Amino acid sequence: MFDVTFIGGGPGGYTGAIKAAQLGLKVALIDKDKNLGGTCLNVGCIPSKALLDSSEHFSFMNKDASKHGIEGQFKLNLQNMMKRKNSIVSELTSGVKYLMKKNKIKVFHGTGQIKTSNTVNVVTENSSDVIETENIVIATGSVPFELPFLKFDYKKVIHSTQALSLESVPEHLLVIGGGAIGLELGSVWGRLGAKVTVIEAMDKICGSMDREVSLELQKILSSQGIDILLDSKVKSGEVNNAGVSLNLGNKSISGDICRVAVGRKAYTQELGLKNVNISLSDRGTIEVNNKFQTNVRNIYAIGDVIDGAMLAHKAEEEGVAVSELIASGTGFVNYLTLPSVIYTHPEVAGVGYTEEQLKEKNISYKKGKFLFKANGRAKAMGDTDGFVKVLSDEKSDKILGCHIVGLGLLIFYRKL
Ligand code: NAI
Repeated sequence: MFDVTFIGGGPGGYTGAIKAAQLGLKVALIDKDKNLGGTCLNVGCIPSKALLDSSEHFSFMNKDASKHGIEGQFKLNLQNMMKRKNSIVSELTSGVKYLMKKNKIKVFHGTGQIKTSNTVNVVTENSSDVIETENIVIATGSVPFELPFLKFDYKKVIHSTQALSLESVPEHLLVIGGGAIGLELGSVWGRLGAKVTVIEAMDKICGSMDREVSLELQKILSSQGIDILLDSKVKSGEVNNAGVSLNLGNKSISGDICRVAVGRKAYTQELGLKNVNISLSDRGTIEVNNKFQTNVRNIYAIGDVIDGAMLAHKAEEEGVAVSELIASGTGFVNYLTLPSVIYTHPEVAGVGYTEEQLKEKNISYKKGKFLFKANGRAKAMGDTDGFVKVLSDEKSDKILGCHIVGLGLLIFYRKL
């Protein structure tokens, strides 16, 4: 009998499992993939950051290096860029495997299906193991949202996984959605030579980030050559011989590949939730109380599969908290201190309340804003776009939010 079984080996599941083992619990972890690490390590944060860095070097060498007195011609070897990305992913996923062994966590590969509140089946093509467990933590993550009128064909209509492994640079990449994924992967292919058009239904990019930050990034990305269409909802689309054509209502737009980045949805398929009568919210997420418990109290859920920001570090924090709750009854995540970052060039980051949220909540605040244009270190780096904005309580000075657009947050910390 295990004390706790984690279903899902992404940042939420593997971090939670390690914490539980460190707290002296007997832990099992199930993942249907042969590699641990989930979306983040395999087809998300890590490979995208590897490509963001490589493409940034390529763009710098060809566009900006001469400003530093470095001259030459550099060409792209996409195959080698992809090999580098793949080897980083495999090093990290092997690292997680090692951590499981080191912490004596029993790993099962297969689909975890909850049979009763104390048993989980691990189903593979040829076998089915039964795990007995005191507690279950569901950490099955999320999958890309698919537009009903433009289904993924994984060649011309793609999601992030394929966009991380294209074999050649598209001529014209259409990106539906101006959130983190759309902007990051749009940036990668734009730097490598594609014409990129980002189509966003709302009147701003960067989702729920501070509006001033969104506007600044929009201006910078546009100056880098990325076309951004705001207030433009894709209504329908079709795949044809030339590529993909999208109908935006008042006009249409065509490209050779269309990357759909309109959000992700909780992944709960094959989990057997009905066997234990766990119900889903209207959004398809698993509902939990403030201790991450579902309506079946020894079955918990964390990460993308519950409501809240779909961020790896949010899942990790919840993984740690849920293990502390199971082991000792106390554990907590302070969501207001969870930052979010979009790794464009320059990056944008935010923590706490946005200015719009403070206005909405009628909280009186003070605002301090400093432009990188006037910062010596930024000038030395040759990258003076952006600003730091600090929002604090009008009376107490308590910091309520901080929002940054700028290359490398190091500059900001040095300033402090
Ligand atoms: P998102 O929810 O952040 O953005 C999707 C955007 O698509 C929204 O702005 C929405 O208005 C737009 N949209 C939806 N339907 C549309 C339509 N028919 N036509 C035009 N625009 C449309 O989703 P995204 O970027 O796919 O990211 C998914 C999740 O992954 C997010 O929660 C994000 O925070 C997380 N993520 C975080 C990263 C980071 O922290 N750096 C990196 C990658 C993903």
